[in-house]
Amino acid sequence: MAEFALPANSKVKTGKTHKAPDGATNIKRFQVYRYDPDSGDNPSVDTYEVDMDACGPMVLDALIKIKNEMDSTLTFRRSCREGVCGSCAMNVDGSNTLSCIKAIDEIKGDAKIYPLPHMEVVKDLVPDLKRAYAQYTSIEPWLKTTSPPPPDKERLQSPEERAKLDGLWECVLCFCCSTSCPSYWWNGDRYLGPAALLQAYRWIADSRDEDTGERLDNLEDPFRLYRCHMIMNCTKTCPKHLNPAKAIAEIKMHMVERR
Ligand code: SF4
Ligand code: SF4
Ligand code: FES
Repeated sequence: MAEFALPANSKVKTGKTHKAPDGATNIKRFQVYRYDPDSGDNPSVDTYEVDMDACGPMVLDALIKIKNEMDSTLTFRRSCREGVCGSCAMNVDGSNTLSCIKAIDEIKGDAKIYPLPHMEVVKDLVPDLKRAYAQYTSIEPWLKTTSPPPPDKERLQSPEERAKLDGLWECVLCFCCSTSCPSYWWNGDRYLGPAALLQAYRWIADSRDEDTGERLDNLEDPFRLYRCHMIMNCTKTCPKHLNPAKAIAEIKMHMVERR
């Protein structure tokens, strides 16, 4: 196999190669971004040769195998392994996705694994999501009401009202969309990004919520909402097949309708 080579001017170094065990015949190479800010060293890309005859089918299976059997220092987030917790988001083969539902078979040649782009890196494949979570908190993601609840039952919705939440409630807050959005790359300190905006719309669209006016006021800002230029990277990359760009367009429509 040809050795992996980074561009000559890259600050990311070519790192160590971890060989497959003797006798392995079905080998896949994983080129994985490594960075430990405490070390003071520039990032590197390490290569791991994984015996696919003894590995599960998903990218996360390979990372867990690498950590368990080849290099315990490799750091990444994961929890559910079923595409529902959102924690294993990373850049695989050039696209942001959930590594637990990304099949290794879909990757031609060496698998290139990087953290979500344009975020500070805590270590290796772990991005710093503090800002993204603060932005999520800012949209106040809970049901807000002023009227008293019915004394003898929950606040009810018709099937049609409930259907308006489909395509929104399924979001797992992985931030694959926000970190693929050029507007968020350049203005992420002020633009909320598609993940937080899809969540904002999830509450605007909820027939039980009684705070729509305040929610829209909170978004009426040249940066928080209007930095979306419909580039659509967010919708293309969402591993849950949601459409944040459409949710953002719906918010803008509400803004127009209330004028
Ligand atoms: S549609 Fe809007 S949110 Fe989505 S990638 Fe484009 S600019 Fe970003
Ligand atoms: S909309 Fe999709 S990509 Fe964005 S945070 Fe939700 S699940 Fe992840
Ligand atoms: S581990 Fe939960 S979404 Fe991948």
